[in-house]
Amino acid sequence: MSEKATLVVGDAHYDLPIIEGSEGERAVDIRQLRARSGLITLDPGYGNTGSCESAITFIDGDRGILRYRGIPIEQFAEAPNFVEVAWLLIFGHLPTREEYRAFAADLTAQADLDENMKHHFEGFPRSAPPMAILSAMINALSCFHPELFELEDPERFRMAAARLISKIRTIAAYAYRHSRGLPFIYPDPRLRYVPNFLHMLFSQPYVQWHCDEAVCEALNLVLILHADHEQNCSTSTVRMVGSSQANLFASCAAGVCALWGPLHGGANVEVLTMLEQIHGGNLTAEEYVRLAKDRDSKVRLMGFGHRVYKNFDPRARMLAEVAERLLARLGQDDPLLQIARRLEEIALRDPYFVDRQLYPNVDFYSGIILRAIGIPTNMFTVIFAIGRLPGWIAHWWEQRQGDGSRIARPRQIYVGDRERPYVAMDERL
Ligand code: ACO
Repeated sequence: MSEKATLVVGDAHYDLPIIEGSEGERAVDIRQLRARSGLITLDPGYGNTGSCESAITFIDGDRGILRYRGIPIEQFAEAPNFVEVAWLLIFGHLPTREEYRAFAADLTAQADLDENMKHHFEGFPRSAPPMAILSAMINALSCFHPELFELEDPERFRMAAARLISKIRTIAAYAYRHSRGLPFIYPDPRLRYVPNFLHMLFSQPYVQWHCDEAVCEALNLVLILHADHEQNCSTSTVRMVGSSQANLFASCAAGVCALWGPLHGGANVEVLTMLEQIHGGNLTAEEYVRLAKDRDSKVRLMGFGHRVYKNFDPRARMLAEVAERLLARLGQDDPLLQIARRLEEIALRDPYFVDRQLYPNVDFYSGIILRAIGIPTNMFTVIFAIGRLPGWIAHWWEQRQGDGSRIARPRQIYVGDRERPYVAMDERL
């Protein structure tokens, strides 16, 4: 007989099935709980709630394991490029040479934005946050590709995915150029995904930006390491919006908004601000850590801690190495890297962080790499979004394909006023 859990409430017993994932993760299946007992479960922040079954990414937070479609993240350090990983996440297998060529060709063909879309950028003030522009423009894409709303057909879905992955890079680059008052640089079909993005960011009319191989490799790896992380806040948002059958563009635009927050993707900006503050001499690393431990200060050690990892985030380890390697290769001696190393050393010895199992997360070192490349701080979370997009698309599609996909609609425990009468304005005290 398959295993079950029993919930006892007063005299009533409710048997609940236990389901097990392919890596031995177990869950009590409560799908019938309310219908049978009238009870719901309460789990603010969803720390104990599985929202779906998914075959895309596996994380073991206690052992610091992250795998994309079964492949350990460490194995992506050398070989593949971001486009290959995007395909893997979305379609479930490593692309054959032919599949890869066709997808890469689609990305190249789709890199341009409709000329009319470019006018939208002019409506934003120069100081507009690039994440706001990114979200608005991804949503606007749906106006230019309404033929891609109905995506039940896998071939159409592939086209939509290619458009989105390609154009997000162009939108991001144009948002940056707009903020600097610089002319837009058209995508160059001779360049691969990452160099093409850097070209649109940094080239000048008639002066092609030369992409150092080490820079391209570093950014490629940054994008790969951000590409998916199962049911994080932004991915859950994409699934939530997608569950209403909203189109792929609208769902991913919502993902950008969720990612923007400082407790999620926005943390990479906060990390740099923190490091710069310490470098500016206002605080020492020791004083900052002291503040981060003080509940009244509201300060947190940014880039530390994770809902799932209670061990090293493997991405942080890899990014720390990339940061060291890149700075050495570029001959840069960034004092912020030394400060980050110092903060890490202090925190990892401090019982406050040890007891709470707080380790560096993906955001702790990524900003130092992006800064070495010359990417301004306000674009950091945009880079995260470019990296995370294949994950969002993969989850959106997986949900669409699934048999049991229902509109996501949590319940609540109401704690407001009991029923009371409306009082006319003149009679209110
Ligand atoms: N600095 C100081 N204390 C921390 C930190 C931190 N970075 N992170 C957690 N804590 C403390 C909390 O104050 C709490 O202490 P308490 O038990 O005494 O109340 C305890 O550790 C547990 O923290 P929670 O906030 O309950 O943990 P949660 O899982 O909800 O939050 C989060 C995870 C949001 C990542 C948190 O660790 C944090 O705010 N970190 C800093 C922001 C950050 O780096 N975000 C990026 C996350 S990765 C990503 O999204 C890409």
